[in-house]
Amino acid sequence: MKKDITDFKVRDQKVIVRCDLNVPIKDGNILDDTRIKACTETIEHLIGSNAKVIILSHLGRVKEEKDKENNSLRPVANRLSELINRPVKFVPYTRGIEVETAINSMKPKDVVMLENTRFEDLDGNKESGNDSELAQYWASLGDIFINDAFGTIHRSHASNVGIANILPSGIGFLVKNEVDKISSALNNPSRPLVVMLGGAKVSDKIGVIENAVKIADYVLIGGGMPYTFYKALGYNVGLSIVDDSSLDFCRKIYSEYKNKIVLPEDIVVATSLSEAANTRITTYANIGNNEIGIDLGMQTLSRYKTILMNANTIIWNGPVGMFEIAKFSKGTRKVVEILSNSKAKIVVGGGDTISALNKFGFNNSRAHISTGGGASLEMLEGKELPGLKVISEK
Ligand code: 3PG
Repeated sequence: MKKDITDFKVRDQKVIVRCDLNVPIKDGNILDDTRIKACTETIEHLIGSNAKVIILSHLGRVKEEKDKENNSLRPVANRLSELINRPVKFVPYTRGIEVETAINSMKPKDVVMLENTRFEDLDGNKESGNDSELAQYWASLGDIFINDAFGTIHRSHASNVGIANILPSGIGFLVKNEVDKISSALNNPSRPLVVMLGGAKVSDKIGVIENAVKIADYVLIGGGMPYTFYKALGYNVGLSIVDDSSLDFCRKIYSEYKNKIVLPEDIVVATSLSEAANTRITTYANIGNNEIGIDLGMQTLSRYKTILMNANTIIWNGPVGMFEIAKFSKGTRKVVEILSNSKAKIVVGGGDTISALNKFGFNNSRAHISTGGGASLEMLEGKELPGLKVISEK
């Protein structure tokens, strides 16, 4: 078991907390504060324990000077301050005298947030490249390091892996909860375990499919992915999305795991990707040359429903149709409804999938909704997570 926040005496200590506060912001307004809310448990615990709390996070990707403009953490610091109901001092620098003065004058229970760690990427990719001098500098600002950035746990950054290599380190409540929930669904599932995968491209999910066929009882394939499988099996898919680089993979994995991989039998096809498109339901063997496969058909949904309702563990990543367009949203809406009524242990990950949950009123308080898109996918692939690996065992 990894060391966690409860293993440290934090009173009067300067605790550096790496959060994933990478939230969508438009014109300075935060569009979704889920990730900010998710890290408050750790921050409030530290405040309640009389620690001095120093928060680090990245926001977006910072490759050119102009990327700084829209990627400041200032609005995030303001929102966090509202959520925890106390001041969060924002220091608009990632290093230097302002940072050091702010930290040296902290009292127990004070909270300081530094500017976006990826501003350091402008000078030789130091944050994303886990530069050791940068990690040393940040580590010198604190006494203890807590990694609570689950969304970034699959990255090897100076602000997560680098600092953890230097300071006494543990994971925060959010990381612990995410890792426990996802690991237990993957490694010790109550069966049947069903993995449902959607999204556009097979190539993004090859590692997940390879792992899923080994551990799951069923792997349901939806979204844009079935068409690469159909093409690999010799069917005409018209203008549907096809990932030609994954044809061999699909042929091979399907022939080996036909008993587990469930492809849609009937699908909704459309003449274009718009609300005005003509649509019909057809089988995979009858897609017209000018048609695009876009959503699950009724028969498929009823088969999915039977499988999902019998499942005791469900892992879902990727919408099963193009739900952003109302006409093609029936499949994803139905899946959300099925999962709302399920008694299974449910783990959901991926930004688009979570948007679908929100859009269609997902209502299942026992489900685990991951704050990490890429991170949860890498766990589903069975990969080792650098941000976790570096934390010592208890
Ligand atoms: C995410 O949003 O998935 C995390 O914050 C990681 O961001 P990144 O993909 O830019 O590393």
